[in-house]
Amino acid sequence: MSSKVQQFLGWIDDRFPLTATWKQHLSEYYAPKNFNFWYFFGSLALLVLVMQIVTGIFLTMHYKPDASLNAAGVSVAFASVEYIMRDVDWGWLIRYLHSTGASMFFVVVYLHMYRGLIYGSYRKPRELIWIFGCFIYVALMAEAFMGYLLPWGQMSFWGAQVIINLFDAIPFIGPDVSTWIRGDFVISGATLNRFFAFHVIAVPLVLLGLVVMHLVALHEVGSNNPDGIEIKKHKDPNTGIPLDGIPFHPYYTVKDILGVCVFLIVFAVILFFTPEGGGYFLEANNFIPADPFKTPEHIAPLWYFTAFYSILRAVPPLFNSQFPGVIAMGLAIVVMFLLPWLDRSPVKSIRYRGALYKWALALFVIAFFVLSYLGTQSVSETKTWLARIFSIIYFLFFILMPWYSRADKTKPEPERVTAC
Ligand code: HEM
Repeated sequence: MSSKVQQFLGWIDDRFPLTATWKQHLSEYYAPKNFNFWYFFGSLALLVLVMQIVTGIFLTMHYKPDASLNAAGVSVAFASVEYIMRDVDWGWLIRYLHSTGASMFFVVVYLHMYRGLIYGSYRKPRELIWIFGCFIYVALMAEAFMGYLLPWGQMSFWGAQVIINLFDAIPFIGPDVSTWIRGDFVISGATLNRFFAFHVIAVPLVLLGLVVMHLVALHEVGSNNPDGIEIKKHKDPNTGIPLDGIPFHPYYTVKDILGVCVFLIVFAVILFFTPEGGGYFLEANNFIPADPFKTPEHIAPLWYFTAFYSILRAVPPLFNSQFPGVIAMGLAIVVMFLLPWLDRSPVKSIRYRGALYKWALALFVIAFFVLSYLGTQSVSETKTWLARIFSIIYFLFFILMPWYSRADKTKPEPERVTAC
């Protein structure tokens, strides 16, 4: 480094801990040397988060959150999205980057969460990383749900109608709660305006704050790894550096760039060849302007919500109230927060777990896929029964975990990390 640059850095360091932060979180943050494929998804989640924020800012420059009708009888909001798609330079790309990006966000986050499950990354001392992650997941769901109302298409309108009406099922206060959420007795311009405010500023701020807390907690305790053992247990007696650790920068910054390149190629293929994902990322009905007088034949949320939607529909109503279904759907998410305390296995990683955990996890993943599929379909008696069976499997994964994780025949963990 030239002395001029060094002088300048020194000037900054005297006023702001730039070099110290760089060292603490990158060049002297020692991460386990055996990170594998599954460790790409944290940095990819960060990438998609930034991409959503940047494309969102550009969309906001042209989008109008206005439900009133224009001279052509179409809402201003719907027309502004069409304007972005047809008339704004590169508008179609920015819009698809954002709408397809939302689905990619969930793909990346689901894979990131799955990594947590296979390597027991939620276990002591990483409980808070997991809890912050679960809050991120809930915030992400709120963000996606509110964003989907903004184009003011048929699915925006009727999807929001179905979900907000669920609050009606809460005993005594339900109808007041749903009116309070809508800001009106029906879904209207008031609802669109508040969802816009939440989608573009309130929830992204919460998300960013949570991501910072997620990473601060991670750097406090250090990363887990595919062996599920603590690298801090074996440190060089002279330097205090973990023997199985390597500096995050340059080793993992470079490795993550490879992950980013592969991800961007996959993303570009989807974006340029099937941006609507065959109706899974943007539904056909949402290209029709919202019509409060015409209910679409089949209302389903986007794929990332459908497992929970299936659980909601699987639970029979009680005294004509959907409340039990709403509770089951809520519990399906709440139970994730409890994972660190449900798992009683002496080992963390799936590599050293026995058959019981592997079967339980396989059944859970199958249940999640089947429920997700069923949630995209219209109801029938057979499908409802299937959804009931797989909802039970979903919950049993968590409820029985204290038992099967302890009873499992585990293998001894190695002292030091093995090759990835
Ligand atoms: C915006 C969404 C998210 C972002 C940007 C994000 C970011 C990250 C990053 C950069 C890491 C470190 C790299 C890695 O281990 O892959 C990480 C680790 C972790 N994340 Fe997330 N995350 C997000 C959502 C979640 C969610 C939803 C969960 C779980 C519910 C979660 C659970 C974890 C856990 C347990 C670790 C530690 C993994 C280990 O050390 O093995 N994260 N996250």
